[in-house]
Amino acid sequence: MASSGTIQLIYLQDCQSRQSSRKEVMARLPKPAEGSWTEHYGLGTAPVSYEGTTSPEYYEVEREAVFRRSWLHVGRVEQVDRTGAYFTKEIAVLGTSIVVVRDADGKVRAFHNICRHRGNKLVWTDFPSEETAGVCRQFTCKYHAWRYNLDGSLNFVQQEGEFFDLDKGAFGLVPVHCDVWQGFIFVNFADEPEQPLHEYLGPMLGALDGYPFERMTERRVYRTEIKANWKLFVDAAQEFYHAPVLHLKQNPPALALPMQDNGFEAPYYQIDGPHRVVSTNGIRAWDLPEDKRKRMDTITRSGLFGAWDAPDLGIEKMPAGINPGGCEPWGMDSFQVYPNFLLGIWSQNWVMSYTYWPTGFNSHVFEGTLHFIPAKTPGEYLAHEMAGVAFKEYLLQDANTLEATQMMLESGVVNRFPIGDQEVLCRALIEETDRWIADYKEKKGIS
Ligand code: FES
Ligand SMILES: [Fe+2]
Repeated sequence: MASSGTIQLIYLQDCQSRQSSRKEVMARLPKPAEGSWTEHYGLGTAPVSYEGTTSPEYYEVEREAVFRRSWLHVGRVEQVDRTGAYFTKEIAVLGTSIVVVRDADGKVRAFHNICRHRGNKLVWTDFPSEETAGVCRQFTCKYHAWRYNLDGSLNFVQQEGEFFDLDKGAFGLVPVHCDVWQGFIFVNFADEPEQPLHEYLGPMLGALDGYPFERMTERRVYRTEIKANWKLFVDAAQEFYHAPVLHLKQNPPALALPMQDNGFEAPYYQIDGPHRVVSTNGIRAWDLPEDKRKRMDTITRSGLFGAWDAPDLGIEKMPAGINPGGCEPWGMDSFQVYPNFLLGIWSQNWVMSYTYWPTGFNSHVFEGTLHFIPAKTPGEYLAHEMAGVAFKEYLLQDANTLEATQMMLESGVVNRFPIGDQEVLCRALIEETDRWIADYKEKKGIS
């Protein structure tokens, strides 16, 4: 009789034999690829430096070269779902705060959150450094009551007659470029963005148009400050072969242990301009015999990969950009929108989004949002809760590890690190950021 270890292995081999392999996926590409993804995308293969995560000088340049020149995701349109609905966002990496608001014409706008009178922060509630949200007809400064319309124009000055030739038309709020893609609000702090948002996002992300993000209004938001450079967390979600190791205990042992022995391969990677995606095959806990599953997973019909019962998306056909490599069975796509936004689209018809907001060279604020089509039954709601609990658990495992990594990278004892083909996107991120910095320095004439 086969031992339980053997049964587990047979189950997994059966699972793996049905899954897309890198070779199969590569052969199907419009331009068939051979060998490694790293070579396919023309990246180097030498060990890499992580100086970009430990150098305060690198970070200072990155702030201007990357964060002031790229489109940054700050929220969803549902957060400003009516005239006067607003939220503030602290943008420590650029030393500012913004307020995002829907104006009377229905347009979503963004402004620096500073009063034009004497510089008070315009919108805040109890604590000046904390973000806030609400609905108003106009913004009124707490200090001397200057008032601004929702389009940013100044409409009231206290004791206006005591000012000297004050032209109210010249003292509106300072605008920030703001645009919306698929309900995701982006801002750009450049004087003039180098590309409009849609062009910046490029064809890979453009091919997601039509995915019903707007229906996923049941959200759970998690936020924490992590003592690690922002790029280290990006890396943790653009390779998945750490999962059977770092997140071993979160998978049912019947899945995780053989996977750890046999390795884990993401079958598809794509790089499109500064943006990237990695797709994984699906692992379906519900295919396991019941005694091999986690009991809570069975009870809640949910777990690490979301609810087992996928809701109907209400669309006739998946947009072409979903599962772009045609992985079978498909698990998820992890899209990395340069520089600091992740969009994870799961085969179980839910979405997660991450943003990483640098607060220093070795710290950042992480925000993770789970987006679900609203539950219609208590069972569905419980399944969403379970997905949230599982998410928090693996996030803590990642976050702990990132702090441990940052700590030792900063020791400077080692400065060349070999990274493999499953880490092709980590390499791409380093090369891409170096390129943005080189380009910025060249344009500014900095040596
Ligand atoms: S600082 Fe805002 S009204 Fe004076
Ligand atoms: Fe992880």
